[in-house]
Amino acid sequence: MGARKPQRRTGKKPNLIQSKLQVNDGSKSNKLVKCDKCEMSYSSTSIEDRAIHEKYHSLHLHGRKWSPNWGSIIYTKQNHSRTVHLSRSTGTITPLNSSPLKKGGPPITHHEEKIVSVRPDKSNGEVRAMMEIMTLVNNELNAPHDENDIWNNTTEEKGKAFVYIKNNRAIGIIIIENLYGGDGKISDRGRWMVYDSRRLVQNVYPDFKIGISRIWVCKTARNLGIATKLVDTARENIVYGEVIPRYQVAWSQPTDSGGKLASKYNGILHKSGKLLLPVYI
Ligand SMILES: CC(C)(COP(=O)(O)OP(=O)(O)OC[C@H]1O[C@@H](n2cnc3c(N)ncnc32)[C@H](O)[C@@H]1OP(=O)(O)O)[C@@H](O)C(=O)NCCC(=O)NCCS
Ligand SMILES: [Zn+2]
Repeated sequence: MGARKPQRRTGKKPNLIQSKLQVNDGSKSNKLVKCDKCEMSYSSTSIEDRAIHEKYHSLHLHGRKWSPNWGSIIYTKQNHSRTVHLSRSTGTITPLNSSPLKKGGPPITHHEEKIVSVRPDKSNGEVRAMMEIMTLVNNELNAPHDENDIWNNTTEEKGKAFVYIKNNRAIGIIIIENLYGGDGKISDRGRWMVYDSRRLVQNVYPDFKIGISRIWVCKTARNLGIATKLVDTARENIVYGEVIPRYQVAWSQPTDSGGKLASKYNGILHKSGKLLLPVYI
């Protein structure tokens, strides 16, 4: 997944911006500002730059709009929340707690959350939306864009893409790579990585079945267990009729936050006292 140096964030912006800024470089009025929420640098005086920032900002923080028809549903969670009543006279908020079946009861809003799988041969809309998210993710991770090929290869299934949708927005994605060879043989790509030093353990080639090529959750939805749910769902849905055990899932060069997730999800404590993460190259 490319280098994981701390400075990787600085190089993550869409190339489009960079070339544009070079053109405008001589202009005194071309002030670069950096958004502290999405960390994008852009020219505040350029209408085009501001529009690009707005789009990137909303995608990075809140995910991308997702049509209800896109993808095949593999998991659904329904949250019912009751509307609160605001009293105009007193200004107090009263939760309305009558039964949903009770006549005249308060309206219930349904916040649907689901996970869908996306196939590259499906409608252009969902593939295009997925590519847009992947561009952002690859930029954020400073990862090569050609690895999109893992999920959008239409001639050979190398992996699968799953998307977490909430309120018609894609707020998280996972791209899974099958580590089996075409003949069903386990590949030799698995390694153990020492969490502290980020070094790979030499001469040990563990058998991991699937690899997480990309995992990403939009900023405002982090730390809610969404990435964990995506990995669990992928384990259950990658091979028909089989649940891949947690310890057979490997990570592709984990980032700082990815490393923390990996250490919670399936890191193992070696007898040396070091934490090892299952990774693949
Ligand atoms: C890594 C990432 C996908 C985690 O998504 P998430 O939905 O926030 O993860 P979860 O809520 O499922 O976290 C699961 C566990 O990992 C830990 N964890 C995840 N990210 C963490 C972070 N940045 N710092 C500390 N702990 C973290 C959580 O503490 C949690 O454990 P807990 O429930 O015991 O507290 C998200 O931070 C992200 O999109 N980062 C940017 C992209 C990236 O780096 N991807 C990883 C590529 S390897
Ligand atoms: Zn921003």
